[in-house]
Amino acid sequence: MIDQNKIDEMMAQLREMKAAREQDLEEMRIKWLGRKGEITRLFDEFRQLTPEEKRTLGQKLNELKVNATRKIEELRESLNQIVDGGKASFDLTKPGDMVELGSRHPISVTREEILSIFRKFGYSVAEGPEIEDDWHVFGALNFPPEHPARDMQDTFFVSPGGENPILLRTHTSSVQVRTMESQSLPIRVVCPGRVFRNEAISARAHCIFHQVEGLYIDKNVSFADLKQAILLFAQEMFGADTRIRMRPSYFPFTEPSAEVDVSCNICHGEGCNICKNTGWLEILGCGMVDPAVLEANGIDSKVYSGFAFGMGIERIAMLKWQVKDLRHYFENDLRFLREFETVI
Ligand code: DAH
Repeated sequence: MIDQNKIDEMMAQLREMKAAREQDLEEMRIKWLGRKGEITRLFDEFRQLTPEEKRTLGQKLNELKVNATRKIEELRESLNQIVDGGKASFDLTKPGDMVELGSRHPISVTREEILSIFRKFGYSVAEGPEIEDDWHVFGALNFPPEHPARDMQDTFFVSPGGENPILLRTHTSSVQVRTMESQSLPIRVVCPGRVFRNEAISARAHCIFHQVEGLYIDKNVSFADLKQAILLFAQEMFGADTRIRMRPSYFPFTEPSAEVDVSCNICHGEGCNICKNTGWLEILGCGMVDPAVLEANGIDSKVYSGFAFGMGIERIAMLKWQVKDLRHYFENDLRFLREFETVI
């Protein structure tokens, strides 16, 4: 007689059903749903139940019928896919669909190239958080309290109030500070990462871009060491005949500070529109770590000295590939990205 267990048992059998041939399906249909089929019989029995029993079993029994119909339909569809009147319904000799390979973004490629040059020089790689506090981005790097970089106009604040506001880092120099806090001396690191500035987006500026920061601290590190490191880097990056020049500059965290230009690798000094007829292209800022920064980070500036440098990855990539508009790097236009497929 029809009952709950019987229906459950049939549901379970239904789930396990398989069909290898059209004939199996027909047998299955007759066995379950045919005029004398098991489900049809259950419906006959159902008619004799009391209204109370009908209420509890009616829905279940309907479900069973719907499931059986659907299952047979599904099995028929999958059989049809494999067999079509005894023949395969698809052409096994047709060529397959092309799998398109992606390629690496030019900024990732440039980042990797910069890091691999410094790895060869014995630098290790350090990374830090993009959401930082005022101390790591400004305070420990000798920025005076009234410095304009600390202004809303220049920096994105996450929570502006209090002693040590939380903000999006404006440069990767913050990772210098974290490295000085966590690593023992001597230190020789490069720190790649994304930085954020409250700037209007144009061909030459973006509110998000990437930098690589470098820091070397040991006994007797001199400006000559800095100059040599930058020269070797420039020659690895832009070609063995590349020359550099240093112009005096100012950063709160280095003293003395310099900006570095490389000889224009497009016109080789003849003058072109990329170097604006000067024969030189600016690539980075650098300097000797200010003793105040060493002291702020618990390093004895009478014993240790160091140099630091920072460069924009977009800028290096623009110079290397003569990309004139920074926005191309962020728009993910495939026509632009595909130009780098062979480079990568
Ligand atoms: N942090 C500077 C910037 O974002 C770049 C920089 C300049 C980093 C000089 C340095 C440095 O480490 O010594 O503009």
